Amino acid sequence: MFKGVLFDLDGVITDTAEYHYLAWKKLAEKLGFTIDRAFNEQLKGVSREDSLTLLLKHGNKTNISSEEFIALAKEKNENYQQMIQQISPKDVYPGILALLQQLQEHQIRISLASASKNGPFLLKQLALTEYFDGIADPSKVAHGKPAPDIFELAAEIIDLKPAECIGIEDAKAGISAIIASGAQPIGVGSKKIIGDVPTVASTDKLSFNYLKEQWK
Ligand code: BG6
Ligand code: MG
Repeated sequence: MFKGVLFDLDGVITDTAEYHYLAWKKLAEKLGFTIDRAFNEQLKGVSREDSLTLLLKHGNKTNISSEEFIALAKEKNENYQQMIQQISPKDVYPGILALLQQLQEHQIRISLASASKNGPFLLKQLALTEYFDGIADPSKVAHGKPAPDIFELAAEIIDLKPAECIGIEDAKAGISAIIASGAQPIGVGSKKIIGDVPTVASTDKLSFNYLKEQWK
C-alpha cells in the first residue's frame, strides 16, 4: 500500500491554474502580444521564471535585460496575488477535502509538491494547512518540473521515498516529474494533455478507494 500522497496545488486543489493563465495573458498583452489556452498548457506546473522565459520566447521578446526580467516576474506575481486574495474554503475543488480526510483516517501522510511560492498562502486561505504533514519549498530545489526534485523533496519531508507515494497532477510537466521521481502518477484533467497514466476527468472522482485501486 502507498504510505503518502504528494499533491500539486494549482489546478488540483483549487482553480488557481486559471488565475496564473490570466496573469500571464495580462503581462503578454502589456508586452504587445497574446497567449491562448493551448500555449498556456506549456506553462502549467512550470516555475515563475521558467514560465516567463517561455512566454518571452513565444512573443519574440528575447532582448530583455536581467533587471527587466526580474521586474516582469514581479509584476506577474503581483497581478496574480491580487486575483487570489479572495480565495476561501468554498473554492476547494469538489472531493479534495473528503480525500484529505480519508487519507488522514488511514494514516496516509500528505505533502505538497507545488512549484508555487504562493502555496502556503493558498493552503491557509483554503483552510487546508492542517491536513498537510509537509510543504516542499520550491525555492529549495535546483530544477523545476518536469525534473523530479520537488516530488523527491515532498516525499523526503514526510520521511518517505517517492516509490512509497502517489503523486497527483494536472500538468504534463508535473506528471513527468512524478514519474521521474519514482512515485506513481494520477492525473486530473484530459488524457490528451496528461498522457497515458490513470487520470480522472475531475477531482470529485478522487477518493481513498480510487487511489487504492490504482496502486500497483
Ligand atoms: C505552478 C503553476 O504550480 O506554480 C505555474 O502551475 C506557476 O503556473 C508556478 O508558474 C509558480 O508559481 P508562483 O506562484 O510561485 O509564481
Ligand atoms: Mg498544477
